Amino acid sequence: MNQPHEHWATPGPLERRARSIAYGILVLALGVLAGVGAREASSRQQQGDKRTAIALTADQRDAVLSDMRTMLTAMQSIMDGATRMDIPKIRAAAQAAGTAALVGRDSATQAQLPEAFRRQSAETRANFDALAEAVRGFTARDTTLAYLSRISARCVSCHAQYRLTLKE
Ligand code: HEC
Repeated sequence: MNQPHEHWATPGPLERRARSIAYGILVLALGVLAGVGAREASSRQQQGDKRTAIALTADQRDAVLSDMRTMLTAMQSIMDGATRMDIPKIRAAAQAAGTAALVGRDSATQAQLPEAFRRQSAETRANFDALAEAVRGFTARDTTLAYLSRISARCVSCHAQYRLTLKE
């Protein structure tokens, strides 16, 4: 009668082995998860580092970012205009984000921006101008969609190339 009691009290060798295997699997799983997490974090960082850094003063950076937000707002107004077939609204928003927006921009800031950056910026503005000119009549929605696709491809492409940093 004593033997079964003892058997339950202390786990047999098989039970012990099953338990240590389960524990081993758990540790392994945690290790793999942690490894994957670390790899993902470091690849994100590497990807960020691949963008060319443009060093600006705080004021210059604020001015560039403010221009960016204005363009995003313009895109939203343009889309809103397109859903309502409100052609004057599309045209006005596109004009506001066009090359006219660059007139009177601080030349010190411009001088800090790489030539390729300024070119892509000017091309994006020119696309807004072209949309303002092209949009009319029944085809307004198709025209707007086609231009927005072209314009947003430029936003995406430049964002993949550059990041702004603060000058020491
Ligand atoms: C010539 C390059 C270039 C083009 C073109 C461009 N951007 Fe940017 N944009 C940048 C850079 C550089 C940043 C800062 C990114 C960073 O530092 O990580 C930025 C940041 C932004 C931000 C963040 C603003 C903030 O307050 O932080 C928005 C919004 C934005 N862009 C919208 C747009 C939109 C919309 C377009 C297209 C219509 C566009 N950008 C086209 C270069 C560009």
